[in-house]
Amino acid sequence: MLKTFNILKKYLTLSLKESLKKNNKIEEFDNLKKNIIVQSSKEEFGDYQSNISLILSKYYGKNPKLIASEIIDLVNDNKEFIDIVESLEVAGPGFINISVKKNIFIDKLIENLKCERVGIPLAFSKNEQDINKKVIVDFSSPNIAKEMHVGHLRSTIIGDSISRIFELRGYDVLRINHVGDWGTQFGMLIAYLKDEYPEYLNNISGIDIGDLVSFYKKSKIKFDNQAEFQIKAREEVIKLQSGDKDSIAAWKLLCSQSRKEFDLIYEILNIKIEERGESFYNPFLKSIVEELKFKSIAEENDGAQCVFLEGLTNKEGGSLPLIIQKQDGGYNYATTDLAAIKYRFSKKDIGDEAKKIIYVTDQGQSNHFYGIFQVAHKAKWIPDNCEAIHVPFGLVQGNDGKKLKTREGKTIRLKDLLSESINRAREDLMTRIKTEKRNEDNKFIDKTSKVIGIGAVKYADLSQNRITNYQFSFDKMLALNGNTAPYLLYTLVRIAGINRKNNFKEDISNTEHITYENLYEWKLLKKLLRYDELIVSVENDLMPNRICNYLFELCQTFNRFYDQVPILKADKQIRNSRLALCSLTEKTLRLSLNLLGIETLERM
Ligand code: ARG
Repeated sequence: MLKTFNILKKYLTLSLKESLKKNNKIEEFDNLKKNIIVQSSKEEFGDYQSNISLILSKYYGKNPKLIASEIIDLVNDNKEFIDIVESLEVAGPGFINISVKKNIFIDKLIENLKCERVGIPLAFSKNEQDINKKVIVDFSSPNIAKEMHVGHLRSTIIGDSISRIFELRGYDVLRINHVGDWGTQFGMLIAYLKDEYPEYLNNISGIDIGDLVSFYKKSKIKFDNQAEFQIKAREEVIKLQSGDKDSIAAWKLLCSQSRKEFDLIYEILNIKIEERGESFYNPFLKSIVEELKFKSIAEENDGAQCVFLEGLTNKEGGSLPLIIQKQDGGYNYATTDLAAIKYRFSKKDIGDEAKKIIYVTDQGQSNHFYGIFQVAHKAKWIPDNCEAIHVPFGLVQGNDGKKLKTREGKTIRLKDLLSESINRAREDLMTRIKTEKRNEDNKFIDKTSKVIGIGAVKYADLSQNRITNYQFSFDKMLALNGNTAPYLLYTLVRIAGINRKNNFKEDISNTEHITYENLYEWKLLKKLLRYDELIVSVENDLMPNRICNYLFELCQTFNRFYDQVPILKADKQIRNSRLALCSLTEKTLRLSLNLLGIETLERM
């Protein structure tokens, strides 16, 4: 109902403007127009609501109910507005409640049923072909020779979903894996490799990531304890940076080995992402620091190059520096991100020409991105009308509220975590099969447990407000009831069951006589038609959990309808109207689960 919503908003905004003019308060307009209309929280309050009169009463010193009637008079002058409104009334202390004509809902239902994207509009119209639609989503981004951990899993799941939302809206999305594949630690790793396992330099396939992680730990111990090895490691860093052939070969081996392990996870999760790691920006680092010095943004402090940030202070109240070149001349994580942001916003022939860049990382990096964005703005690397956004998320915790660990207290490997979820889903499925005395083949069992197991992990993550920490619990995420992936998948299976019993594809083409008599139908219909408004607002606030909340409510509304209202047993005309609701519920669920990166099932 986005279109309807926009019409209501347009005329309410115009009336607000007029009212402010009359009362000599026009300077408040920009501030007040933002929230002029919202969806009603309850059916009784109509479809939409405005509390603007309550706010205006403070400015005008007048009774809000009076202001509400004045606004209603103003807005009632517009034919386009009146044509879609069923009723418009002052309620409570001065709210304006708006109900939309029923036929608008029905027309929209018919339109959405025929539409692949269930009415979600594209963000760009046909005559906006040449507009820049490039959005970069920087997500996942694990580090070479280190284990990919649950933080990276969250980034991967949230980043993938955000990418899918932008893709659906017609943006040109570039998914980037900013892997940690550069830095001084590689000097140590290569030196260690050369010392201890020279044979691996020709044949690295003997090492797997587990070994690489312990390998990293061992090389660190050696580095911390042997002066001679430290010198070697430092020499290796210089060799690597100057492009020495052997060192580059060794570095590539280490990267490719880690990559194999990452790819395995991406395959299980069905994630598409392009790798462009930190090393890509190495050639630009020197000039980044020079440019910032030249523009007097960076300054020397204690032998390091720093930018003192505005708005961030240390415990003593002093300004916090963002170090961009260390005392030893080396560059760091921040330098790389500065080079990356400049490159990504630069014009096409030298960069990506992004319109928007979205970084999905844990909250711990908020200050880092605050600094990067501030410096990039100062250096004028972020063009007008373009934006860089950090999308932070909280920690994944165990049942005890502490950092997620194995029973033995070790860090959990992602591969193991995902397999455990699939195995548990399989156990549940086997129990169901047994009690229901069903006969299922292995192919069905494998596929179903994977879809449920992986879907449950993704959904548990996405359904949380990403800013808060969340407790990881297999029992909760795999439950058939509650706000879980299995519950949503099960609702879809229910509808698939109705489809099987009735080949309704033919029936709903005949939708001219759609009528809705009872409350359950209306509630479902209205919920369904709110979907486009939701998706567009999630594109703005980047909170995929709102899609999950919507889906949970949609499924509850559907299941109430399903339990209370006869569908296939109803008379033909009513049956068709109800089947149309089933069909739109199904389409909405499928599309949404796809936006969350969750596969669907016909049976489970
Ligand atoms: N590799 C980093 C980490 O593991 C995440 C990188 C995020 N992206 C970025 N452009 N800094 O914490």
